[in-house]
Amino acid sequence: MSFPWAQEYAPAHPFMKWVDEKLPLPRFVYNAVGAGYPVPRNLNYFWNFGILAGVCLMLQIVTGIVLAMHYASNADIAFSSTEHIMRDVNWGWMLRYAHANGASAFFVVVYIHIFRGFFYGSYKAPREMIWLLGVVIFLLMMATAFMGYVLPWGQMSFWGASVITNLFSAIPLVGDAVHTWLLGGFAPDNAALNRFFSLHFLLPFVILGVVILHIWALHIPGSSNPTGVEVKSESDTVPFHPYYTAKDGFGLAVFLLLYTAVLFFAPNALGHPDNYIPANPMQTPAHIVPEWYFWPFYAILRAFTQNFLFFPAKLLGVLAMFSAILVWFFLPWLDNSPVRSGHFRPTFRKFYYLLVVDMLVLGYCGGSPAEEPYVMVSQIATAYYFLHFLVILPIVSMVETPAPLPFSITEAVLGADESAALAAE
Ligand code: HEM
Repeated sequence: MSFPWAQEYAPAHPFMKWVDEKLPLPRFVYNAVGAGYPVPRNLNYFWNFGILAGVCLMLQIVTGIVLAMHYASNADIAFSSTEHIMRDVNWGWMLRYAHANGASAFFVVVYIHIFRGFFYGSYKAPREMIWLLGVVIFLLMMATAFMGYVLPWGQMSFWGASVITNLFSAIPLVGDAVHTWLLGGFAPDNAALNRFFSLHFLLPFVILGVVILHIWALHIPGSSNPTGVEVKSESDTVPFHPYYTAKDGFGLAVFLLLYTAVLFFAPNALGHPDNYIPANPMQTPAHIVPEWYFWPFYAILRAFTQNFLFFPAKLLGVLAMFSAILVWFFLPWLDNSPVRSGHFRPTFRKFYYLLVVDMLVLGYCGGSPAEEPYVMVSQIATAYYFLHFLVILPIVSMVETPAPLPFSITEAVLGADESAALAAE
C-alpha cells in the first residue's frame, strides 16, 4: 500500500535526476526497499527471513551457474566431473560445498519463514496472495532441490531418483506410462540425468519470477507485524531505509557467520556418505533417504503401509505427501479467526507449538529406517498433521476467545497512542 505519508523520491544528485526522468528505476527501488516504503515499526527478527531467503536464492543461482561451467551431465562421467570440480577446479570444492550447503540453508530459512507465517497468521486477508505464491515457491524449491541432488550421480542420487520417480507409477491406469515418460526410460539413466540437469538450471529462474510476484503482492497491503494489527497512522511505521536495511543487514551478517561456519568446518555434516559412491543400479543401499529437508514429507509418504479399499498403500502415501503441502493453499480459509497474531490467541498458540513438535517428529521418523517404532510414530504424527489443519484450526478459530488487542502498533510499542486515536476519528 502506498501510505499517504510515504516519502516522495527527490534525487539530490543531477545524474540520478537525469536517470530517473529517462527510466524511473531509482524511484522504483526507493519506493520498494528505500525510504519511500513505510514499514511497521515493530517487526521482530522473524521478519528478516524473507530477505534471507532472497539472499539464499541469489547464492544458489550464482554458485550454480559457475558449477554448471564445469559439470558434465552425462551418466558416464557426471560422478567424476563432480569430483573434478572438488579436486581440480580452482576453489571448486568451495563452490560445490557452498551450493550443497546453500540448499540446506535456503530450506532452514524458508521453513522459519513459513512457520513465522503460521504463527503470526500472515496468510490471512489481505495477504492471501502473498501466501499462495509462497506455497508455489516452496513446491518449486522442492522440485529443484530433488533434481539437483540427482546430478552428482552418486548412490543416493540414483536411488533417490528411482524411489521418487517411481511414485508416479502409483497414478491409476497411466502411472507406468507417466513414470517411463518422466525418466525417458524404465530406470534413471542418461536421459533422466539430462532432463533433470536442464530443469534444475531452469527452475531457479522460475522461482525468481514467482518471488518477484510474491514481493509485488507484499507491497499492496505492506508487511503485517507481530501484533497483527494493521497500520493506522504514520506513527505506526518507519521508513524501510535506514531502519530495516540496518536490521536486515545485521540478520544477514549473523546468517553468513552460521552458514560459513558449516561451509568451512562441517561441509559434509548434512550430506549422506553414500553419495560419495558412484551410482550403481545393481546395488541398492541399505537405507535410501532423501536430504533432511524432505524428511517430514517422506515420513508421511511411508506412513501408509496398508491398501485401503481400491487404493494401494503407495497411492495413498503419494496423495498424502502432496496433500500435506497442498493443504497450505487452503489455510487462509481454514483459519477464520478475526485475530491474526498467535500472541493474542492462547488456544491456537498451544496447537501451533504441537504442530512444530509434530513436524520435528515427522522429520526424525523420515530420516530413520522404515521399521518400528518409526512407522507407527509416523502414522500417528501424520494423522495429527492433517487433524491440525483440517479440524483443529477451523474449530479453534470459531470457539477461541482471543486476548484483547492493542489499539494500534504504536500503542503496543509505546503505550498511549494519541496520533492514531486522532487519525481514527
Ligand atoms: C524463495 C523463497 C522466498 C522468498 C525470497 C521470500 C521473500 C519474502 C520477503 C522479502 C518478504 C517480506 C519480508 C518478510 O516478511 O520476511 C516475504 C513475506 C512473506 N512471505 Fe515470503 N519468500 C519466500 C518464500 C515464502 C514461502 C515458501 C511462503 C509460504 C508458504 C512465504 C510466505 C510469505 C508471507 C505470508 C509473507 C508476508 C508476511 C507478513 O507480512 O506478515 N514466503 N517473503
